[in-house]
Amino acid sequence: AAPVRPGAILYDAYSETIELADINWENLGFGIQSTDYMYIMKYPQGGSFSKGELQRFGNIELSPSAGVLNYGQGLFEGLKAYRKQDGNILLFRPEENAERMRMGAERMCMPSPTVEQFVEAVKATVLANKRWVPPPGKGSLYIRPLLMGSGAVLGLAPAPEYTFLIYVSPVGNYFKEGVAPINLVIERDLHRATPGGTGGVKTIGNYAAVLKAQSVAKAKGFSDVLYLDCVHKKYLEEVSSCNIFIVKDNVISTPAIKGTILPGITRKSIIDVARSEGFQVEERLVSVDELLNADEVFCTGTAVVVSPVGSVTYLDKRVSYGGSGFGAVAQQLYEVLTRLQMGLIEDKMNWTVEL
Ligand code: COI
Repeated sequence: AAPVRPGAILYDAYSETIELADINWENLGFGIQSTDYMYIMKYPQGGSFSKGELQRFGNIELSPSAGVLNYGQGLFEGLKAYRKQDGNILLFRPEENAERMRMGAERMCMPSPTVEQFVEAVKATVLANKRWVPPPGKGSLYIRPLLMGSGAVLGLAPAPEYTFLIYVSPVGNYFKEGVAPINLVIERDLHRATPGGTGGVKTIGNYAAVLKAQSVAKAKGFSDVLYLDCVHKKYLEEVSSCNIFIVKDNVISTPAIKGTILPGITRKSIIDVARSEGFQVEERLVSVDELLNADEVFCTGTAVVVSPVGSVTYLDKRVSYGGSGFGAVAQQLYEVLTRLQMGLIEDKMNWTVEL
């Protein structure tokens, strides 16, 4: 897409004229940018989620003994809004995020907004920040819903009050490599999840738990860390920020969801896209040996989208895959998924929600 002059683009959408925010839309990375509004809905003690409202984006006040600060009672979600060529905005499967938050809240002993409340709140937040949705081809608006125990506790117990909050930030590529292949290292000693634990829900602690391995890996020049199951130290689980797929002889395989792996919405969508494109897709145990002998490896996630893996390092041995770009299978799936998300092809799956 042609370069976009900061703040100067006018869109004729919703029968009105929108002036884009005055930022440099070229080469957006994955960083936080203050936007105009955030959405807040409270669950008071003995009450229920109701009366959410938009507020100017800014800091929030929390008790020092809030459940989320002391005992990690928190969940987050991630989804994206894309601007179409006609200026309108598309959300991708927001009800899936709502449902995943609801399931996570159950595991974390928290009340959650209904699917309808969640989706309506996402829509309201995106519309209130529509000047921050990047122009077509420049990125997307990343939407970050949070659910937290905001009430005060001292003894270990579920918090008495909860806060649901949504903020947004315009983003581009997640990895600094852009769409170039990433280099992963397999972690053998540190684990992100255990059977019976919370690896399968999007709780904030899962992400704090991987920071150590991630920073060691980054210091050695790797893009991110791939985790193995903690029992056999043999089967693939996921990367810190995304799910993993391998391709061998045109068959696509990915670790099955069994409580220790985040049930990614992009993962699930890629499986459906791949099947509809005629590929055989297997959800099962995938061993390190299979990974090292794969024809192609790629990651999926909301932030990551589809990211080709250029190399995997295991026990100091590096295995490389293909050339300098996407493998053929990942390329095909990436194209179909992103064209669907951006409204460039017909949405036969009924996955997008137009605002
Ligand atoms: C996402 O892909 O939306 C996530 O929540 C992963 C996060 C580490 C950026």
